[in-house]
Amino acid sequence: ALKAGACPVSPRAAAFDPFEDAYQQDPPEYVRWAREEEPVFFSPKLGYWVITRYDDIKAVFRDNITFSPSIALEKIIPTSDEANAVLASYSYAMNRTLVNEDEPAHMARRRVLMEPFTPEALRHHEPMVRRLAREYVDRFIDDGRADLVDQMLWEVPLTVALHFLGIPEEDMDLLRQYSIAHTVNTWGRPKPEEQVRVAHAVGNFWQLAGKILDKMRKDPSGPGWMKYGIRKQADYPEVVTDSYLHSMMMAGIVAAHETTANATANALKLLLQHPSAWREICEDPSLIPNAVEECLRHNGSVPAWRRLVTRDVKIGGIDIPAGSKLLMVMASANHDQRHFEDADALDIRRDNSSDHLTFGYGSHQCMGKNLARMEMQIFLEELSRRLPHMRLCEQTFTYLPNTSFRGPEHLWVEWDPLQNPERRNR
Ligand code: HEM
Repeated sequence: ALKAGACPVSPRAAAFDPFEDAYQQDPPEYVRWAREEEPVFFSPKLGYWVITRYDDIKAVFRDNITFSPSIALEKIIPTSDEANAVLASYSYAMNRTLVNEDEPAHMARRRVLMEPFTPEALRHHEPMVRRLAREYVDRFIDDGRADLVDQMLWEVPLTVALHFLGIPEEDMDLLRQYSIAHTVNTWGRPKPEEQVRVAHAVGNFWQLAGKILDKMRKDPSGPGWMKYGIRKQADYPEVVTDSYLHSMMMAGIVAAHETTANATANALKLLLQHPSAWREICEDPSLIPNAVEECLRHNGSVPAWRRLVTRDVKIGGIDIPAGSKLLMVMASANHDQRHFEDADALDIRRDNSSDHLTFGYGSHQCMGKNLARMEMQIFLEELSRRLPHMRLCEQTFTYLPNTSFRGPEHLWVEWDPLQNPERRNR
């Protein structure tokens, strides 16, 4: 029996654990019970309220005053004193960027920094994305077999991200290791010994970000969003602060890179698991933009995001007190039958695919969404044109255990190189 005032937690809510492999393998399936029967529940393991339906999540995203994004980059599981001391030894001071900034500071900053994301500005990046995609495919097209993540989908978005931010290409391998550590540090549940290793990597990432920033400050001319930010700081020092620039130098690499790399790997896996959909886009590439949107809905790369409740409210009829923390499972919202007809089916012609919440919604909605879409479209165009006959190899998919960044660590595909269209056309 429940004590008066105690929080009623069902057995399934008590068992909910987003660090289990089942969550990473298929987030909407993992919380299907909740979406259907207990759409807003308290998770004692996490200390968060978990929100699983489309309308409830959209309402939370819509009101960023009642539901503050300030905890978006906070460690989801507090780490040991030892790991915290390691971070402190690197003067680690990750703070507000945009995604975790409250109003009115957030909107003022977002406005000042928006221009490099306009469709016009993004068009300049398209030839580079296309060239990189072609070069990487050239390297393995005659092999008959490739791990698309290791051989293309991780590095190309990283290179694009570094160019977009204006960062020199050197230190790429180091940045790759560091950015994974940041994901584990923020959204994962590392074991005590791993926490210390992760803390060193995050500390090094922080210091490297500071060094790159100092280099840029000496000559902030030329293309790149971070350089643009440094130039804007001269006019708006209160809006574009030093703390912002240093934090964004680190968070921006992860925001622009891992999200997109994972989203493309998820999309290709999904399409190759649905050979008729894959065949259709190979035959008619004009289907690709909507297919990208449908893949982001069905199998997106950011399955969940956080908010802090700033006043007593009701969500989906449940009383939630001020000070509560929310985990919104957008991957579940994206499979909500109340909003998407036959929600579990992949339908590359679906007319409301782009209603998905994978980019968030409202005043914080992803600023980089059109860059991500452009990259994903180009990768699908190049791969479907040059390797239409590829198929998934037999394999077990593995994922990094964490709440918010999701994509297979490897994606093995195979094909017969003798059947490559560009050979047959010779
Ligand atoms: C914010 C997802 C790619 C930059 C966000 C948010 C999500 C997200 C869920 C939080 C939205 C909210 O709180 O309402 C994704 C996904 C991507 C992607 C799934 C790829 C498929 C990118 C890229 C960039 C980027 C390529 C380029 C720099 C940002 C920025 C914000 C943001 C700056 C903060 C916006 C604000 O708070 O005003 N993204 N993102 N993202 N994203 Fe992305």
